[in-house]
Amino acid sequence: MIVLGIETSCDDTGAALIRDGRILANIVASQDVHIEYGGVVPELASRAHITLLPRVFQEALETADIPIDRIDAVAATLGPGLVGSLLVGIEFAKGFALARGIPWIGVNHVEAHLVSAGLESDLPTPYLGMVASGGHTEIYHVPEHGDYRRIGSTRDDAAGEAFDKIGKLLGLPYPAGPHLDRLAREGNPTAIALPRARLKGDTLDFSMSGLKTAAKLLLDREPRPIPESRLRDLCASVERAIVDALVERLDQALERYEAKALTVAGGCACNTLLRTEATRIASARGVPALFPSPKLCRDNGAMIAYAGWLRLEHGERSPYGASAIPNLDTFSAA
Ligand code: KG4
Ligand code: ZN
Repeated sequence: MIVLGIETSCDDTGAALIRDGRILANIVASQDVHIEYGGVVPELASRAHITLLPRVFQEALETADIPIDRIDAVAATLGPGLVGSLLVGIEFAKGFALARGIPWIGVNHVEAHLVSAGLESDLPTPYLGMVASGGHTEIYHVPEHGDYRRIGSTRDDAAGEAFDKIGKLLGLPYPAGPHLDRLAREGNPTAIALPRARLKGDTLDFSMSGLKTAAKLLLDREPRPIPESRLRDLCASVERAIVDALVERLDQALERYEAKALTVAGGCACNTLLRTEATRIASARGVPALFPSPKLCRDNGAMIAYAGWLRLEHGERSPYGASAIPNLDTFSAA
């Protein structure tokens, strides 16, 4: 089955074609209109999706080298995300499906990140998965495919927000995560002491707000401009604090839940230290750590096509009345 996957939940415009769960083409256009604002401007994002989506779709078709009538179904992100952005992808998907008389399915963006390692390797069940992105930091236990149980989530900022907001205080361009990662590689992670959140009770939840406040107070005292070597040390210390918070919870989850694999996905799964540390704690317990390749960690259409394909294979379909759900919190198709 060939599935077209469309992702327009935030500021990346993605279209992909997959055949039976394997990628034929995966094209993503990043919108650079937001850079000068230091964050995503929703109105600009939806306008850019309107212009970029037809082009990105055409490029996916050319890359996959298949005629348009070979497409068997369309999947698009239903939520969570920015309503105006979601609508562009959903209306494109529904229009395409209706015109060609093929099914369409709405997909939860977080579910798509969670399962995305399955595009490149087999994810054995039961498994534990973390989605760490600009909008989400959640841990799931997956006893079997299709049965996703959230066992921990952030109480305030997502991991990517912490990278981006603290990175902004350091003067790094948006999104700061990749820059911070690069600079941290040659820095000293013990240069400044940053707190690790201690949430009360028996919980696998996260909190990033204390770290963010502590970082702000410390960084306000740094002389400006920050010298290059000091900047590297600060980046390494911030990265270590964020990654420690994530990995501590993952380790506790591995302790409590049966798992044959650990997967970490979402934009922050590109982070070098997170990949190393998650691999370390997983192998200490004798399980493999599976990460999507960097292009699949960021927002993309292939993961949407893949999550949609898994549901289509179970006979699920979305009605034409289904529309954007900006705060979508369940994993069942609408
Ligand atoms: O999954 P994603 O592309 O979009 C959302 O759904 O949010 O994630 C984007 C987030 C941004 O916050 C970005 O700073 C972060 O992923 N990110 C990273 C790295 N690459 C991207 N954070 C840390 N280290 C990286 N190498
Ligand atoms: Zn995402």
